[in-house]
Amino acid sequence: NEFRRQTDARRAPAYEHLRRTLQHAIENGELTAGQALPGERELGKLLDLSRVTVRKAIAGLVGDGLLLQRQGAGTFVAERIVKSFSKLTSFTDDLRARGLDPKSVFLERAIGEVTPDEAMALNLSPGAQVVRYYRLRTAGDQALALERTVVPQSVLADPELVVNSLYDAFDRLGLRPTRALQRLRAIAFDAEQARLMNLAEGSPGLFIERRTFLDDGRVVEYTRSFYRGDAYDFVAELQSE
Ligand code: GLP
Repeated sequence: NEFRRQTDARRAPAYEHLRRTLQHAIENGELTAGQALPGERELGKLLDLSRVTVRKAIAGLVGDGLLLQRQGAGTFVAERIVKSFSKLTSFTDDLRARGLDPKSVFLERAIGEVTPDEAMALNLSPGAQVVRYYRLRTAGDQALALERTVVPQSVLADPELVVNSLYDAFDRLGLRPTRALQRLRAIAFDAEQARLMNLAEGSPGLFIERRTFLDDGRVVEYTRSFYRGDAYDFVAELQSE
């Protein structure tokens, strides 16, 4: 209806719309770090927007640290990591992007028969075989997370295929996860987890559950992660409907 349209339009002016579009392009990698943007005038012409609109959108993104302006040279996509909660990345991706050295300490790595819960999460039939990992995830000396991952054995024939990173193993097998469902909640580390993580019992953490899908709908992982509460910032962009 007309009123709704008007308030929506007021809520998202043209520069805000352009700002979001550019932000998405950066987060999706359509615009990559270091890449130069066309000039304000050119961009305005291209998108049929006023120069003021373009300038405002760019100023916003410069303020966010996503773009940077070099005197006389123009506007560039900033070379820094924005960890978006809405992007499908791995523990290894996130840490490498911060210049850290991610590792896995395997507490468990075995093949077994799927449990009813796992069968539901992975869309498997009872009796199917799965590969299970329980890993301590570290950067240098610091323990950052504990992760329990279950993968259908039809996806990972041999548990040893995962050396450090699960997603690297998928990549080597030519499997491209395209989508995931994730759920997050606050937890307190229990005594056993705290011991493994070298934390005090009851320390705050984030529990993250993820089911990851391939394009063809197959579920390739069901992972329950327990992240240190004090080591991560999860950033998400929220949009009105
Ligand atoms: C994150 C996700 C997990 C995923 C893991 C893969 O921690 N929450 O669901 O299994 O990344 O990371 P890597 O490829 O380093 O094993």
